[in-house]
Amino acid sequence: MEVYNFKLFRAFQPSFDEAGDEWKRRIFGVDYILLKGMQGGMLFLSRYGWPLADALRPRHWYVDGRFRETGQRLVGSTGSVYRMELPHRNSRGLPVVIKFNRFAQDAPVFYTIASQSEAADNIARGARFLSPFEEFGLLQDLRASHKTQPGRTPIWTQRPLAIYCPATRYPAWKLGRKENAYWRYDRALAADQRDQPEEKRVVYEWDRVYITLFNWVKGVDAQDAAESGVISDETMVKLSRNVNKELSERGFRVLDNKPRHIILRPHGRSGRPKAFRGQLPYALIDYELLERGE
Ligand SMILES: Nc1ncnc2c1ncn2[C@@H]1O[C@H](COP(=O)(O)OP(=O)(O)OP(=O)(O)O)[C@@H](O)[C@H]1O
Ligand SMILES: [Mg+2]
Repeated sequence: MEVYNFKLFRAFQPSFDEAGDEWKRRIFGVDYILLKGMQGGMLFLSRYGWPLADALRPRHWYVDGRFRETGQRLVGSTGSVYRMELPHRNSRGLPVVIKFNRFAQDAPVFYTIASQSEAADNIARGARFLSPFEEFGLLQDLRASHKTQPGRTPIWTQRPLAIYCPATRYPAWKLGRKENAYWRYDRALAADQRDQPEEKRVVYEWDRVYITLFNWVKGVDAQDAAESGVISDETMVKLSRNVNKELSERGFRVLDNKPRHIILRPHGRSGRPKAFRGQLPYALIDYELLERGE
């Protein structure tokens, strides 16, 4: 079992800013505290994940495939995505989403709400899964995008908590990655890391997996809501188009955006979604194909 340097944890867990600089990494604009395991596993904790570091320890969800044993695989996903409740000292539990990152794998874009021609253009251009660090970076930008546009409200998303890279090494074919895609990711990361001190520069471990952790968002996804009659199909399509519009107004788009990626927020005791000023409150999930739009 991996043993992490918990000197930082045990006695007194400093705030993110108080933690020693030697632990800090900045990657695509996101600040992390990096904990390295004795066997070489790497746990990158974001500012959202650091206060939850104790619960996010791989021993609680990764070791012995716990996420598979006690977690719940999320249907409706083409990837490997699990929901799991982690032990958390001041509450009943911390529900998280555990998602295996798919960078350098083929990106199957076969359903979008976008207009036909744009969809064809997207596919032709060759969608590309973001690396875990790129994903957290763009998500952070999306979460802050309203700040540069007066009168805009924030887009509700999951909080990016952590990125875990276990020490185990695999042959490329086992990871389903295209080796001829590596150079583009490496070049973008190297350019980003150029201003970091050499000993702190992060590189991709191409023979290892990367797993992203997000908080679970309470609610029902728009496809399930339509299928169970909570909303009409028409509302589902209108909502999805509206989400695309809100994204593009902020300079973003999701190539494979779909009703499954729109989590309708529960309201009141019934937990049913309720519109405010004609708009159903929602949270957007799944950022692996997020990109800056025109
Ligand atoms: N934070 C969350 N809160 C609620 N539901 C979630 C959350 N994350 C994922 N889900 C559910 O899990 C499903 C799969 O998640 P996600 O879309 O991230 O997986 P994926 O492998 O990227 O799927 P896709 O095939 O759409 O690319 C979603 O359709 C949604 O219903
Ligand atoms: Mg996806």
